[in-house]
Amino acid sequence: MRNTHYNKIKGKKVLVTGGLGFVGHNLVKTLVNDYQCKVIVVDDCTNSNESVIASVRDKVTFHKVSVLDGDAFFPLMVDVNYIFHLACIQIAASSSDPLLDMQVNAQSTLQLLEQIRHGEYPVLERIVYTSSCSVYGSTSRLPLDENDPTNVLSNYAATKLLGEQYTLIYNRNYNIPVSIVRYSNVYGYGQSPRNPYCGVLGKFIHNSLTCQPLTVVGDGEQTRDYTFITDAVDATILAAVHPMAYGDVFNVGSGIETSVNRLANLISDYVKDATITHVPERDIDNIRRRVVDIEKIHQRLGWVPKMGLQKGIESTIDWYKTIL
Ligand SMILES: NC(=O)c1ccc[n+]([C@@H]2O[C@H](COP(=O)([O-])OP(=O)(O)OC[C@H]3O[C@@H](n4cnc5c(N)ncnc54)[C@H](O)[C@@H]3O)[C@@H](O)[C@H]2O)c1
Repeated sequence: MRNTHYNKIKGKKVLVTGGLGFVGHNLVKTLVNDYQCKVIVVDDCTNSNESVIASVRDKVTFHKVSVLDGDAFFPLMVDVNYIFHLACIQIAASSSDPLLDMQVNAQSTLQLLEQIRHGEYPVLERIVYTSSCSVYGSTSRLPLDENDPTNVLSNYAATKLLGEQYTLIYNRNYNIPVSIVRYSNVYGYGQSPRNPYCGVLGKFIHNSLTCQPLTVVGDGEQTRDYTFITDAVDATILAAVHPMAYGDVFNVGSGIETSVNRLANLISDYVKDATITHVPERDIDNIRRRVVDIEKIHQRLGWVPKMGLQKGIESTIDWYKTIL
């Protein structure tokens, strides 16, 4: 049975930063189509374009604005009930422009929280900050739960963790209503294969459909925990509406550890001509294994992932076929 807390967001006014991004535009579409929300999208198109929300464009207000530009951004928050703060500089770009990474991932969050602390936002019910399981870094103790120590190994992980910490501090010190989700490798439709940051799964699917080999780095036994986009969106909305999510942090994943070899095999089972090739390990492959514990979000909020990996990959491949 559908968790009744979801009904709270129906018809509400919602602002989504980074709302043209992979997760963002899927979230926007769900908020419009399933919850009849009045959605304001804020995105500066650093890594996206407006065409991704074409199907809901007449029901959404889009502002090509940077989250760092308070003069343009803050007036859009008036009378908003929920804010989903997704705007980010992705991990692959974070070390080439570390200052921008810090500004977008962390400073914009602090600016937003400061604005709410000093401004008048009487109908604001929740801000959701979307963080990343990369904050855990590398560890031998798996699965990772929210009480495990953080161990950042990249600029991106450092700035996402800083964004989280500001968010929690402003909750504790000023009662600003927040929740945090830590996504683990989100995949699925809407993640452009032309985007250089689309991750191993996106790259594999793109290559399998364009007659290029799936390139496995090292022995292929590196693992991650893959989350299907609809599950990530569902968990994010639940983190906004559930009273038990207030002021807290939740892993969002499948709880299943999947190797690169398994991904390659699942794809080559579905795309008949796909071939697999191996290349030596790179220095940046610094996290060997990752799988997250999803008991907290299950026990507290009643969320469980619904999409299995095989079906998720197949539906992602079917979507890629429509855009290639
Ligand atoms: N996709 C994943 O697997 C994953 C994993 C962990 C965490 N996350 C987090 O989830 C959120 C969404 O990730 P995504 O995969 O959709 O990323 P994405 O890069 O697809 O989307 C980010 C969006 O933010 C926009 N943006 C960048 N700088 C901006 C600025 N200054 N002002 C306004 N907009 C700006 C980009 O144009 C883009 O549309 C991010 O906060 C990310 O850190 C994603």
